[in-house]
Amino acid sequence: MAYITCRDITLRYESLVVQEHLSFSVEKGDYLCIVGENGSGKSTLMKCLLGLKTVDAGTLTLGDGLKRNEIGYLPQQSQIQRSFPASVREVVLSGCLNGGFFHPFYTKADKARAAEQMECLNITALADRCYRELSGGQQQRVLLARALCATKKLLLLDEPLTGLDPLVATELYAILRHIHEEHGITIIMVTHDVECAVRHAKSILHIGKQESFFGSCAEYENSAVGKRFLGENITPEHCSNCERHPHKHAHAHGKEAAE
Ligand SMILES: Nc1ncnc2c1ncn2[C@@H]1O[C@H](COP(=O)(O)OP(=O)(O)OP(=O)(O)O)[C@@H](O)[C@H]1O
Ligand SMILES: [Mg+2]
Repeated sequence: MAYITCRDITLRYESLVVQEHLSFSVEKGDYLCIVGENGSGKSTLMKCLLGLKTVDAGTLTLGDGLKRNEIGYLPQQSQIQRSFPASVREVVLSGCLNGGFFHPFYTKADKARAAEQMECLNITALADRCYRELSGGQQQRVLLARALCATKKLLLLDEPLTGLDPLVATELYAILRHIHEEHGITIIMVTHDVECAVRHAKSILHIGKQESFFGSCAEYENSAVGKRFLGENITPEHCSNCERHPHKHAHAHGKEAAE
């Protein structure tokens, strides 16, 4: 049985239907990227996977021995979270609590796990620094270490690369690949960087306001919605990632590829 199986689910807030008839599954060992327009329901789906919100129709089932408190989560960032007044060590350690931050006690094992994750993400030297004084890339590493403290099985990442420069984003992709391949952690990542998504993920869930898609990256690239999202309709003002994909965007702009 899959870690997560969603069959024909509906996501809604009172009278606002965000998504309907959504079906997909995530197996142990998968690397799923969730893409789609702003407001299409990606973060809402994350909340449902975490059990913070219930689905309004259809079924969402956890399987293969996965429990809700075994899911690591890196939430979509807000300005308030960015200015959180705690040390790096405290933020990372709070991942051991499965949600609650104001817990007075941590076990020795919790502290060892936090130290291990900080080492893995190369942030040990930042341990006593105040989280809000770090750069965006450093903060994302801290939040990733925090999420890793919460799981050995499944990581949910909601736009972990937003606002990062291309080099830091590439570095974080490499870290995720390492975590996935070497530590066997299943990854579900929400991203707006569709081209990187098809390069790094094993499968794609596209949640659109009009249409949705679930399948392999190759199937997505050949689908109508995938082709549209992957650049055929990209206009220059949407090309914030040109440094990362100069050839594709040159093509999308209707120019000859640089090669
Ligand atoms: N707590 C809430 N109460 C009511 N409506 C909400 C709530 N949270 C989100 N919404 C609405 O639900 C829809 C989906 O929001 P959601 O945050 O899931 O989108 P998203 O796909 O994550 O967008 P983005 O790419 O901008 O992060 C939006 O129309 C949003 O305004
Ligand atoms: Mg979101």
